[in-house]
Amino acid sequence: MSTIAATVEPTATSGLVEIHNVRKSYAGVEVLSGIDLTIEPGEVVTILGPSGSGKSTLLRTINHLESVDSGSVTVDGELIGYELRGDRLHELREREILQRRTQVGIVFQSFNLFPHLTALENVTEAPIALKRLSKDDARTSALGLLDRVGLAEKASAYPRQLSGGQQQRVAIARALALKPKVLLFDEPTSALDPELVGEVLDVIRDLAQLGTTLIIVTHEIGFAREVSDRVVFLDHGVVVEQGPPSDVLVNPQNPRTREFLAKVLG
Ligand SMILES: Nc1ncnc2c1ncn2[C@@H]1O[C@H](COP(=O)(O)OP(=O)(O)OP(=O)(O)O)[C@@H](O)[C@H]1O
Ligand SMILES: [Mg+2]
Repeated sequence: MSTIAATVEPTATSGLVEIHNVRKSYAGVEVLSGIDLTIEPGEVVTILGPSGSGKSTLLRTINHLESVDSGSVTVDGELIGYELRGDRLHELREREILQRRTQVGIVFQSFNLFPHLTALENVTEAPIALKRLSKDDARTSALGLLDRVGLAEKASAYPRQLSGGQQQRVAIARALALKPKVLLFDEPTSALDPELVGEVLDVIRDLAQLGTTLIIVTHEIGFAREVSDRVVFLDHGVVVEQGPPSDVLVNPQNPRTREFLAKVLG
């Protein structure tokens, strides 16, 4: 763990994610089988694993897009979807979940932008709807975010007028608009043409420098190696191996990690 602490941004004071014994089944089939992970403020963690191993499900439990069957997920000590009453967890009401969920942004493979809104409106929508910012302030902030992802000149473009890489960068700006403590990425470059992957990875690389906790599901092994403080390998809903990328990606100990890496690295 000392390697991890040494590489974490010293300025990051929030964004601690604690996942404790999380279990989740669909129709009697267990998809997450007791996940324990602590992700430090400002840490960059990539999650690797075969298709169906539970990577997306795990990400979705972190911002409570999925409920858990047992166990808990907290961000800076606060439960996202539940509150503790006595010794039992009760699911919060939708409104409260929405408020707490803003601490954790998520960027999907398929961008999920609002097609009828411009790039700028996609970014201002949530801060205005949640009454976090006035329209003017939301606009100023959104223009700054679009500039940060290299899209200042595309503010008035609609998603259909943007390339996949540009749409994904708008989606990242949108996720940042609520100033999340933690940002989740679920295969952010998988739907992109190869020549557009780099521009999205550049934006994520910049975020990694800024001290937001990042949890990234990706098949871009080279990128994972370069950007992560820690790599977590998931298989059949279990963390089978984790550690610094220089260990897990270079000298994997678990046979399942070895097999997976051999496949994706060709
Ligand atoms: N809403 C759902 N209802 C039923 N089964 C589901 C649901 N979501 C996921 N599953 C199942 O749970 C398992 C894990 O799915 P998950 O999407 O987390 O895998 P993954 O590791 O993200 O895979 P991939 O690399 O293909 O994205 C799969 O067997 C999947 O079919
Ligand atoms: Mg997935």
